[in-house]
Amino acid sequence: MRIEDPKIVAVLPELGVQLNPSASLAGLTSLGIGGTTDLLRIHKHEAIPDLLNLLDAQDVPHKFLGGGSNLLVGDGELPWIVLQLVSPEPDIVLEGNFAQVDAAADLGRTVTFCAKNDLGGMEGLIGVPGTVGGALRMNAGAYGMQIGSYVREVKLYRAAARKLETLQGDQISFEYRHTSFAPDDMMLAVKLELPSKPYPEILKGIRICNEKRRASQPLGQKSAGCIFKNPPGASAGRMIDELGLKGLSVGDARVSDRHANFFVNAGKASAKDMLALIADVRERVQKSSGVILEYEVVVWNR
Ligand code: EPU
Repeated sequence: MRIEDPKIVAVLPELGVQLNPSASLAGLTSLGIGGTTDLLRIHKHEAIPDLLNLLDAQDVPHKFLGGGSNLLVGDGELPWIVLQLVSPEPDIVLEGNFAQVDAAADLGRTVTFCAKNDLGGMEGLIGVPGTVGGALRMNAGAYGMQIGSYVREVKLYRAAARKLETLQGDQISFEYRHTSFAPDDMMLAVKLELPSKPYPEILKGIRICNEKRRASQPLGQKSAGCIFKNPPGASAGRMIDELGLKGLSVGDARVSDRHANFFVNAGKASAKDMLALIADVRERVQKSSGVILEYEVVVWNR
């Protein structure tokens, strides 16, 4: 979708918003799949209410993009524009055991920056691609930890109320790959409280998690991490593997040979290919076990 309304185009620089016309979402997602649309890069949180009022007044549909690492975007010219935060400098500020982190900050860099300052707890998240905002929205976790455990405060734009708000940690519920945020809430910043730990000890934990991840996940390939959530008490990856579906393909979309809950783009996969593969695997699992796997990957398809 192109922003053609001159009223909007003229106001963007005043709001500190940069327009990247016809951006390729394939280039902005870890799956490397997705069509094109106009991208608005937001430099100041304070500009968001005015920007969104403007877009709504002109009926411009929009979506918020984090790091694009858990996302499957449709093909072709997309019927909405995309908004993305630009990380400020610095994007992480420490004070005692608290880390104030911008939502656009890279998650891995946040884990290592905190570690170097003797703040631990997030070792399991090393190697999880994406932004802190994206991790927060879905309560990303691995190796027995989840980011929600450390959240004390979240600054967000509440689309329903059309304003910036700050929520305390106890006002938010964090469950397995799920939070109480509304789908159109936009994460802006988070205050984490992290346990003190000497850097060498944190580094040991980071190395162990890195090794486990390297041994079991297709890290060098284009993927969106796990496609499905684990059903209670089971592993979606194991269930798919046990059906012998590793290597199953639709076009260049392929069930990873290394971890069956990772579906990789082995070349020039389209969203159509990937969606067909996901639907096929889901149906086969349902037929064999009766379990309907729930999507973990977020799909923006029309
Ligand atoms: N397994 C297989 N075949 C496979 C994959 C896994 O037999 O193809 C078996 C493993 O051998 C193991 C069990 O299934 O016995 C569990 O596998 P794994 O330890 O890889 O954990 P998972 O449940 O498949 C979850 C998260 C990952 C996270 C790892 C490590 C979900 C959907 N997945 O995977 O998170 O990195 O644990 O904590 O919760 C993600 O959310 O995108 C993600 C990658």
